[in-house]
Amino acid sequence: MIQMVRHIVDTRQLKDRRFLEGLFARADEMKHAVENKQVIRKHEGKIVASLFYQPSTRTKMTFDTAAKRLGAEVIGTENAREFSSAFKGETLEHSLLAVQECFDIVVMRHDKDGAAKRAATILNIPFINAGDGKNQHPTQALLDLYTIRQVFGRIGSLKIAFVGDIAQGRTIKSLAYLLAHLQNNELFFVSPPQLKLPEDMRAYLIEKGAKFLETDDLDAVISLVDVLYVTRLQWEYVQDESQKNLLQESYRKYQITHERANNMKDGSIIMHPLPINTSKSEGFPEIASEVDNHPRALYFRQSNNGLYVRMALLDVLLTGPSDPLYNLILDVP
Ligand code: CP
Repeated sequence: MIQMVRHIVDTRQLKDRRFLEGLFARADEMKHAVENKQVIRKHEGKIVASLFYQPSTRTKMTFDTAAKRLGAEVIGTENAREFSSAFKGETLEHSLLAVQECFDIVVMRHDKDGAAKRAATILNIPFINAGDGKNQHPTQALLDLYTIRQVFGRIGSLKIAFVGDIAQGRTIKSLAYLLAHLQNNELFFVSPPQLKLPEDMRAYLIEKGAKFLETDDLDAVISLVDVLYVTRLQWEYVQDESQKNLLQESYRKYQITHERANNMKDGSIIMHPLPINTSKSEGFPEIASEVDNHPRALYFRQSNNGLYVRMALLDVLLTGPSDPLYNLILDVP
């Protein structure tokens, strides 16, 4: 039997519980090795392509570091829109086909929805979606779930509220799809009416029998949930200036303040995929800076967990079919 090359495009490919538990156990091992200054050279001689057509701090730096910590080298560009031949109008498909023999794996972020699936369709080496437009960000969802498991010791039977830009948030979509497949989770989607759950997500959650509620009343749910997953307004996808101002204004009443953080239940946490908007990013901070030091604020730990989860995932994909977890990755939907 010919083994298909595995790609990570969408979290619906990762819903096998054995995959999640195995990956998180491996991420624990990676964390232990990094914290104890152990050198892992398992993938020496391999080369990771790192193509970022859209800005990134966390995803790019933790992927690059993860590759290096496994002994692999990284080659790529963090401004592929201007510094690659995309600038001259080359298609994504041509760019990838022209260089894929240089690499063992491709990690790509792109501003267009569906770009990840286009890449995975033509590549004959493993591919990881590091975020494609408003569509998906699967490795963010994995590190989010890993953080939840670290805190609660489980990934099911939890109440999670997503707050903010539900309509355009790829991190929300990716994590909500994963949580919907795990037993007894209850999801709350809290947003201004203009940024509520898109129809395709609602239909998917209904089809899967997920328990979820949509509301614009943050204070009605804040004391009920284990996890408050806050997201920024994705202003870069809003073209109309007057619409942008209206959305920014409507976002203000959802800000997580110290008082709201105090109103959460015992043991609950505040997560955020980061970055948080500032006046510089044409936005209003969805989490007040005073909350950064609140004991419930987990977002910096969450972000740093990206290193261990991405090390584990690169290890699986660079090892290939001889790694049992590789064979638990489902087909791209
Ligand atoms: N969360 C996240 O994807 O952050 P970056 O855009 O900095 O990679």
